[in-house]
Amino acid sequence: MDKLKITGGRPLEGEVRISGAKNAALPIMCAALLTEKPLALSNLPQLRDVSTMAKLLGQMGVGVERGDGRMTLHAREIREPTAAYDLVKTMRASVLVLGPLLARCGEAKVSLPGGCAIGQRPVDQHVKGLQAMGASIAIEHGYMSATAERLRGARIVMDMVTVTGTENLMMAAALAEGETLLENAAREPEVVDLANCLRAMGARIEGAGSDKIRIQGVRSLGGAEHRVMPDRIETGTYLAAVAAAGGKVRLTGTAPESLDATLEKLREAGSRITVAGSSIEIEATQRPNAVGVRTAPYPGFATDMQAQFMALACVANGTALITETIFENRFMHAIELQRLGADIRLEGNTAVVKGVERLQGAAVMATDLRASAGLVIAGLVAEGDTVVDRIYHLDRGYEALEKKLGQLGARVERIG
Ligand code: EPU
Repeated sequence: MDKLKITGGRPLEGEVRISGAKNAALPIMCAALLTEKPLALSNLPQLRDVSTMAKLLGQMGVGVERGDGRMTLHAREIREPTAAYDLVKTMRASVLVLGPLLARCGEAKVSLPGGCAIGQRPVDQHVKGLQAMGASIAIEHGYMSATAERLRGARIVMDMVTVTGTENLMMAAALAEGETLLENAAREPEVVDLANCLRAMGARIEGAGSDKIRIQGVRSLGGAEHRVMPDRIETGTYLAAVAAAGGKVRLTGTAPESLDATLEKLREAGSRITVAGSSIEIEATQRPNAVGVRTAPYPGFATDMQAQFMALACVANGTALITETIFENRFMHAIELQRLGADIRLEGNTAVVKGVERLQGAAVMATDLRASAGLVIAGLVAEGDTVVDRIYHLDRGYEALEKKLGQLGARVERIG
């Protein structure tokens, strides 16, 4: 069942509960490597990436107990501080084990992730930061082989804002000797969620959420309980779907404060948005206005929302400029959207999208997680049937997508 058939043309109505954030869950699961005590997580999404991470940790000897939205990870001892290519190639976030393994075991062997559909995505900043903390890292046979006696705190100025890079170094620094100062750190809410979990484990971290994070290393960390923050990208994806297809939907269990840039753009598109506590209600009664976006590190407009907003622009009134500044090749969905009748011209890292009155259903191919989400949104507004192939990409990051869309009245089914 590798395809999703969407019969478009219906507005979305009803209520949906948002899951825990994939991009917070993955680093937080790796934090379990830093302690010999259990880390009990809740609000964990049921996603393929979460299962892949559990498998990866399991291979190292971490005990994994899974329940409904819960997982307890227990790294009593780490048998094998290695992340092999066969798992790393399916999920780049596997590189997040490097810092914790090195800090806890003094050694780590992690496969280089290799290329990726949205760009080159090197990990040089992770390596550079760990080297500044005293690690020796050799790249051999496609692996990063790292060793360190005990990592030492250091002042690290990152060349660019990197989310997993910041997370890897923050975890390593938590057990290093002395103080680490991370400058030009990522300010993403997921970095803050990880810092909160590490603090609950006994880490001394200040400044997460700003571009300077100060970490005082401690000798050891303890166990903790942590509730994973809501997924802001899943939230934004449903909001963009309603803005495009029309209707009225209430999303519960969200973190509205993490969505400022997205909510602002949706209001510009003409949607009515009401925030009440952890719920967001959206009502879209008219064809959306064209809104341009330019992706940027948080608190700017998220690159993980770019494809969904391109889909929205495809049916908007007017022309929108969509500029991607984070990844060099994150426009694969544009070609597929054209198959649905979209009017898109690519000029370097900008897509010029002229809204059309109607898209027409067609067969399209998903290329990565967020591109797939853009195609699903386009399918919801297109006339007739859209069949999105290779939806395993969606299963990596959207919990129960067809069930949740079905709850909102969309006609969506998984087919062979
Ligand atoms: N970069 C380097 N060197 C490095 C690290 C990054 O050149 O050592 C570059 C990247 O190539 C990219 C930019 O820096 O051009 C930013 O990349 P970043 O490291 O921030 O991306 P990431 O940490 O690998 C996370 C999310 C992505 C999200 C990006 C940007 C996780 C697990 N993944 O990736 O999420 O797009 O930040 O916000 O947190 C997704 O969920 O679909 C997804 C791709």
